Amino acid sequence: MTYRIGVIAGDGIGPEVVAEARKALSAAGLSYEALDYDLGGARYLRTGEVLPDSTVAELAGLDAILLGAVGTPEVPPGVLERGLLLRLRFEFDLYVNLRPVRLLPGAPTPLAGKGPDDIDLVVIRENTEGAYAGEGGFLRKGTPAEVATQGSVNTRLGVERCLRYAFDLARTRPRHHLTLCHKTNVMSFAGDLWQRAFTEVAADYPDVETGYVHVDAACLYLVESPERFDVIVTDNLFGDIVTDLGAAIAGGLGLAASGNLNPPRDRPSIFEPVHGSAPDIAGTGRANPLAAILSAGMLASFLGEGDVSARIEGAVGAVLSKLGGTTATTMRHSTAEVGDLVAEQITQEA
Ligand code: IPM
Ligand code: MN
Repeated sequence: MTYRIGVIAGDGIGPEVVAEARKALSAAGLSYEALDYDLGGARYLRTGEVLPDSTVAELAGLDAILLGAVGTPEVPPGVLERGLLLRLRFEFDLYVNLRPVRLLPGAPTPLAGKGPDDIDLVVIRENTEGAYAGEGGFLRKGTPAEVATQGSVNTRLGVERCLRYAFDLARTRPRHHLTLCHKTNVMSFAGDLWQRAFTEVAADYPDVETGYVHVDAACLYLVESPERFDVIVTDNLFGDIVTDLGAAIAGGLGLAASGNLNPPRDRPSIFEPVHGSAPDIAGTGRANPLAAILSAGMLASFLGEGDVSARIEGAVGAVLSKLGGTTATTMRHSTAEVGDLVAEQITQEA
């Protein structure tokens, strides 16, 4: 079948890395029609529009979406984040943010004495609630007595469906281990709900071994002993933070891929590199396209095209081993050169 894939290349290095991801998908034999959507900071500055309702309706009918990065320094913080990224995550009910933290052979890690066997975990970040729900407001704004509140929304339904996804995933991995990461000692209402739901859902998964770590300790362990983790499940904000740390230990942001998943598959899932638009290096050809390429691999995998994703991942691994030490800042090859190497590798192995 020919998939209909929406492409939001976006701003900065977004279009550069997305072009390489598309090369990889085509080389790996995915049959797809790409539908380009002009969205992001540039469009906003030109037209004042962030995300028209008609575009949301069109995107909703596609099989999947590949996103590069959105954001430009001229657009105030929050406009594109809430108006575009979070709006799509929420309206499409992309309640799982799947972020692998896997050190591929050949990729660099700043952790001394740790290798690919030690750094192989997946973070399941709840993606529609928590601090991202936007609960809060101002009182007496701009006065000396100003008050700002920012709440965290945690529903039993939202937490439980995310936990179940994480348990299901843990079951498919050799170690069958799942760690809940929260801050139950201080966030005593939200943490209590998460902890109770975790314990209750665990009863349905007797074959999955469970553990718990506070989020601050999780940051320490990710650096000191990442091998203790297999699957981590956590809330939206903690997940945002620990996955940047995860990217740092597993080759850097130039390699970190993610999927915003709608597990029931009634709306398209969105796949994007964890890195942003990096305006400082946009147009220099120095952006590492591997995170976008690996995100395209996750897209194929979610569509059920396991062969396509295996080809892409295999080729990225082979190219990394050849190039060695490739990070976003120390790349010796241009964005297009790396993309070409991956595409050639895929073709050679076919
Ligand atoms: C991410 C990003 C986003 C987030 C921002 C850009 C809204 O940091 O995908 O991790 O906080 O989720
Ligand atoms: Mn982030």
